[in-house]
Amino acid sequence: MVRSPLLQEVTSLEGRRFVVVSNRQPFSHVRRDGEVRVEKPPSGLTLALEPIVQATRGTWIAASSGDADREFVDRRGHVLQNPPDVQYKLRRLFLPAKLNEDFYTGFANSALWPLCHIAYHKPRFEEHWWRAYVRANELFAEAVADEIGDRPAIVFIQDFQLALLPRLLRQRCPRALIAQFWHIPWPNPEAFRICPWRKELLEGLLGNHLLGFHLPYHCNNFLYTVDRELQARLDRERNRVVLEERATAVAAFPLSVDFRRIRESVLGAEAQREAARLRELHGRGRKLVLSVERLDYSKGILERIEAIQRLFERYPALRETVSFVQIATPSRTTVRAYRDYAAAVERAVARVNANLAGNGWTPIKPMHTYLEPEKVWIWYNAADALIVSSLHDGMNLVSKEYVAAAPDDGVLLLSEFTGAARDLDEAVSINPYATDGFADAIAMSLSMPESERRERMRRLRWRVSNYDVGAWARDILRVIRQHDFDAHRPAPVGGLAEGQFPSRGLAAEAGWRPARARRH
Ligand code: G6P
Repeated sequence: MVRSPLLQEVTSLEGRRFVVVSNRQPFSHVRRDGEVRVEKPPSGLTLALEPIVQATRGTWIAASSGDADREFVDRRGHVLQNPPDVQYKLRRLFLPAKLNEDFYTGFANSALWPLCHIAYHKPRFEEHWWRAYVRANELFAEAVADEIGDRPAIVFIQDFQLALLPRLLRQRCPRALIAQFWHIPWPNPEAFRICPWRKELLEGLLGNHLLGFHLPYHCNNFLYTVDRELQARLDRERNRVVLEERATAVAAFPLSVDFRRIRESVLGAEAQREAARLRELHGRGRKLVLSVERLDYSKGILERIEAIQRLFERYPALRETVSFVQIATPSRTTVRAYRDYAAAVERAVARVNANLAGNGWTPIKPMHTYLEPEKVWIWYNAADALIVSSLHDGMNLVSKEYVAAAPDDGVLLLSEFTGAARDLDEAVSINPYATDGFADAIAMSLSMPESERRERMRRLRWRVSNYDVGAWARDILRVIRQHDFDAHRPAPVGGLAEGQFPSRGLAAEAGWRPARARRH
């Protein structure tokens, strides 16, 4: 695996163990046609985090998800033999099936996911799902405690499946520095307050020493939610919350991708040959417009299909000149809403193709399957444009991966409701709800002069390469270490209690931005 110099910087942890905890594991052992294969999941989170755990030679604790996972672990769940290139230790947690169903399919993906994404999909709150969520978080806490004991460690928790874990760890692992990154949006307090267990979730998260979001906007929403729901002390000046004498810093760190690794991979001779073959096969002199996502209602796939139909109605001359390749990986198929959505997408594609296809031309080519990351990167390189149509997205790493892998004149069309839209100014902005405007934006992108396409891509590349996933990790680790330093320094007279956090200079360097006093 290629390591960027930035990633090498994060390896100095001053003797502490580095433990990443996420629900989704970075690789699984699955049985396919009688053979066991190692597969990586379609998760931007695991793809982004992997180079960091790799660089730190850390430990990754995650739930098992492959049907052959058990055959490859020891008694405590540690994977016995790593796949080539993997230099960290993976510890698998085997959640009982019913518990996993209620925790993952139920509370995580049918309550919290729709609660945090404003995609007009109603969350459901079942009490037995909540109990399973509590229990699953306890089991993760036991695994982390067993892994690190009372040794000094940095525990870096990922995402919404593990909101209760930080508080549980504060009690069990007193010498651990605990940080969490929330990869999805944090909604405004009005939206969040419909959750019957909102206080418990907030208290769980306030077990962290540091809680990171992609955007200052999400930090502000979180702070306002805390302000409304808990008797906590809010230090807006420093963006921190003090609850029961424990301080949690809240800061924004926009997640990015391993730019160099992706770029070097697509520029290899074999990848270039394959990209040319894909262009030939699917483009045949036609423009190739790509989309890549999990089959998830928050990704606005139906809205995009409608815009494609509208495009050919409004601009009939474009027929047969462009093909839309739709790589959508089946996801969370145990959740009914996802199965229904996948079926609706299949129907919508069939309808558009039945209306318009002809003369050997198919407007939308669906590939509803799993593709390895390296193969997806080649598709990016073959594509004249990429559309990200999310209705709401914490960041959207696909857009940044495209920038890393795209041809020099590739065009990025990016939903204004993604976190990435705040970083990637030179993308063509779209509102997936506004079908006519969406169709016009596609038409405009297809006729954009080459010089403008190149200039926009050049600037986008500069942005993504300047702040890659290594910079993100380095900033988070610096702020966590600063916390440790401050916590062991005598408090200034009249200063705040435990956990002085963090010094202005470092925090600003790390992407910390002061919250603006704004109520939503
Ligand atoms: C989003 C979430 C991640 C999750 C990924 C894939 O990116 O923020 O936490 O891992 O989707 O979803 P899955 O449910 O398959 O892990």
